[in-house]
Amino acid sequence: MAFLQFPEGFQWGAATAAYQVEGAYNEDDRGLSIWDTFSHQPGMVERGETGDVACDHYHRFRDDIELMAHLGLGTYRFSVSWSRVQPFGYGAVNEKGLAFYDRLVDGLIEKGIQPAVTLYHWDLPQGLQDLGGWANRDTAERFAEYAALVYDRLGDRVTRWITLNEPIVFTLMGHLTGRMAPGIRDIGITARSIHHALLAHGRAVAAFRASGRTGEIGITNANTSYEPADDRPETQQAVELARDFDSRLFHGPVFGRGYPESVLRYYEAKDAPFPIEAGDLEAIAAPTDFLGLNLYSRARIEPAPDRGVGYRNAAPTLPLLPMGYEAAPHALGDFVRWVSKEYGNPRIYITENGVCDNAEPGPDGRIDDHVRVDLLGQFLAGLHGAIQKGADVRAYYQWSLMDNFEWAYGYRMRFGMVHTDFATLERTPKRSAAWYSEVIRRNGVEV
Ligand code: FCB
Repeated sequence: MAFLQFPEGFQWGAATAAYQVEGAYNEDDRGLSIWDTFSHQPGMVERGETGDVACDHYHRFRDDIELMAHLGLGTYRFSVSWSRVQPFGYGAVNEKGLAFYDRLVDGLIEKGIQPAVTLYHWDLPQGLQDLGGWANRDTAERFAEYAALVYDRLGDRVTRWITLNEPIVFTLMGHLTGRMAPGIRDIGITARSIHHALLAHGRAVAAFRASGRTGEIGITNANTSYEPADDRPETQQAVELARDFDSRLFHGPVFGRGYPESVLRYYEAKDAPFPIEAGDLEAIAAPTDFLGLNLYSRARIEPAPDRGVGYRNAAPTLPLLPMGYEAAPHALGDFVRWVSKEYGNPRIYITENGVCDNAEPGPDGRIDDHVRVDLLGQFLAGLHGAIQKGADVRAYYQWSLMDNFEWAYGYRMRFGMVHTDFATLERTPKRSAAWYSEVIRRNGVEV
């Protein structure tokens, strides 16, 4: 066993998202979002489950803050539901919605937990979807207006802002594969959505600077660590292509590098060009204060000359977790090293990392999620290694505080360190919660 000490001041947290935990979907004048529409459509979510109630965090947030304090969290990342604040996504502002986030922020601060607020975690107001959603350029402007409202209301206490959560996921899975809301399958709409989402990010950063609030703002991207399936030079080229279509497509424009040529060519060949207008790339490259990274796994890549993108995922070689991806805890350290080198050592917050482990209570009522504990320890060891090598990582948020609505999987996939009984809504800390408290207390991990 070795004890790996993290740098002094390193922050330990946990993350959730509005639609996955809040419930109260039609209370206090909340408007509907695309996830309400999608989950209520038969066949879209396993067993027809919805986020109508979820963890009922909207009513139980005070207990949940107690839980966080008990765990020793230094920071908590949550998202604001846009349609709670602006029921249609534009125009009228819902005071009751803002008041909820006010109470949540105050409650956290009272316990010494720093709030980190994500402005968009996939729940676009249905009113905006009806006008074309992310395919409509105006959505980027509406997002900046909504962001400004939230800065205005919470910015005296919230100093860490995340514009978008994982644009790659909500654009591609929402508009190309249709596995997520709004359930569209159209490559032209996908290209438009990608560009408008990034534009929305840039506009929201500009609105933050214009608000005069102090604090930091950045984007959270989803990441996979890509590894060559073999040592042929063409396999390395395939890895670079995978990075273009994933990492560089979203990090590149934010860091002022524009879109990768390979990606632009691919979409143009499909008659689905990115609708870039003069000034857009500059807007998207508005300087940010940190890079938010979510990472869960790796992928082995091999060349695929028969596919338009030129690469494919090779067969997995590591054990698979219930969500279908490999248990690959080395991926976090590897990716952090790669991204730090690629983009000039930015300040990084790991805004999500976690493990799907569906362990249920044993006869004694305890939940022994040892797979999660084991893998989280290894993830953190890799992260520690990357920090030792000079990566500027300042915070780590575990996904998730508690089991919640896992999108198209419904409640079947459990990522929480606190167990949620979805029949009674009772919360029970798992073994991983006790383990994480110890990590926090010692500011380091025993592996
Ligand atoms: C991420 C999402 C988050 C959660 C985890 C498991 O892609 O940001 O909401 O679903 O995966």
